[in-house]
Amino acid sequence: MKAIIDQLKTTAAATRATDIRAAFASDPGRFDRYSARLDDLLMDYSKSAVNAEVMALLLKLADEGGVAKKRDAMFAGEAINFTENRAVLHTALRNRSNTPVLVDGKDVMPEVNDVLAAMGRFADAIRSGAIKGATGKKITDVVNIGIGGSDLGPVMATLALGPYHDGPRLHFVSNIDGAHIADTLKLLAADTTLFIVASKTFTTIETMTNAATARRFIADALGEAAVGHHFAAVSTALDKVAAFGIDSDRIFGFWDWVGGRYSIWSAIGLPLMIAIGPENFGHFLDGAHAMDNHFRSAPTGENLPMLLGLIGYYERNVLGYPSRAVIPYDQRLARFPAYLQQLDMESNGKGVTIDGTPVNGSSGPVVWGEPGTNGQHAFFQLLHQGTDIVPVEFMIAANGFEPELRHQHQLLMANCLAQSEALMKGRTVAEAKAQLTAKGMDDSQADFIAPHRVFTGNRPSITFVHDRLTPYALGRLIALYEHRVFVEGVLFRINSFDQWGVELGKELATGLLPVIEGKESASSHDSSTQGLVAALAKLAK
Ligand code: F6P
Repeated sequence: MKAIIDQLKTTAAATRATDIRAAFASDPGRFDRYSARLDDLLMDYSKSAVNAEVMALLLKLADEGGVAKKRDAMFAGEAINFTENRAVLHTALRNRSNTPVLVDGKDVMPEVNDVLAAMGRFADAIRSGAIKGATGKKITDVVNIGIGGSDLGPVMATLALGPYHDGPRLHFVSNIDGAHIADTLKLLAADTTLFIVASKTFTTIETMTNAATARRFIADALGEAAVGHHFAAVSTALDKVAAFGIDSDRIFGFWDWVGGRYSIWSAIGLPLMIAIGPENFGHFLDGAHAMDNHFRSAPTGENLPMLLGLIGYYERNVLGYPSRAVIPYDQRLARFPAYLQQLDMESNGKGVTIDGTPVNGSSGPVVWGEPGTNGQHAFFQLLHQGTDIVPVEFMIAANGFEPELRHQHQLLMANCLAQSEALMKGRTVAEAKAQLTAKGMDDSQADFIAPHRVFTGNRPSITFVHDRLTPYALGRLIALYEHRVFVEGVLFRINSFDQWGVELGKELATGLLPVIEGKESASSHDSSTQGLVAALAKLAK
């Protein structure tokens, strides 16, 4: 692989692959050559820094890197998360063809289908009012208490699918900061509220602490006996949930082969299902399954997750760009970048290869973003004229859900396309000067100002276009990004499915609590930590 990566570096330089503007000028067929489709979903990567030579090498890289082989191992239930000795089978949760998926020789599909059916019955009963609160009132508000993968997916998807939301209101509490749950509880009446405690491990301190606060809220308002009526739970640790006092018919399980950041398809999706209904949740799974099938079967050069992963890898490890921005031109995808931060950075933010040696080069980039057009009025200045090149991934639907506001949607589309065009084309100093003199500025003043109005151009982007943000389209989009992360992880030669990097901070926080509480001395800590502890203690009221 090292040889191909070196070859990619020399080829990209020798063929001037990063001169995207020149490539467009000399090749009218560039869009057709460098775009790929799955049904209505179009991926335009023609504004990336690729050419025929680079693409040929990237396809070779996928081959030599064994991406297809590893992909097949994942779908087959092999324990590819080898540091935890676990299979990686979020794809089984949306395996709508229902073909057997074996883990240690046992088909997991019957259990997957059973939990999905139980979720559907519970969601329907909450939505219809058949299941009521302790005082006999219909549930009007559902609060999901979870963090990380037990929060970000449902939060993101609930906002994204707002037009399909016809169930109870949804709220999400994640932060250990008491402000989060306090501000949420202020909006709620105990007798019409259901709490879903969502935690794969059922040990996460944030979730357990917030769940205890919620439990007190119900017990104080309605009495201890009411608690069971106002709680449900989602976890792999069924024994721990039972100990919390939640009835078994309100516990929805999943399995250790579902990673937290890949768990939206599991019972972690229960709040979303309550919001949009089991049928729409089924369409959400269908969309992901369609992407799974495409990922498994399409030739690499036409395979959206493969292409997205290969280009992502190339931008990070060959061209050396340290971050990438994801800019959905869709207000309802406002939380998609935050969701991708966990998906991508918790998966591929690793420094050690599968052999236990340091990663040679780089692993995953910093992922960030905000919806357009808001981002344009905040950080796009840096994207266009800053000293770092940040590849951008745009997404835009041809149709919104507000036909009466079609003109606003047209403005949204125009802005999205204009940004990728501006990033690619830029503006030369001669063009900048000509604009200024055309407005009547004298020659020497125009010479002085023009450099400030230059855009270097040649800044890469990928644009996704699709019909409309339906549950199906959202499922397909999330699965696309999951598989892209997978492809990049294989090429980085890391294990994308563990997250040991979050452990150290958790351990130290546990050790610091008694110090903050004043029960232990800070003397074993470094002088900065000691100073900060003292400053907080002095200010504490
Ligand atoms: O942040 C670390 C992490 O383990 C994530 O991977 C996970 O999604 C999150 O914590 C929450 O974990 P749990 O669902 O077990 O509460």
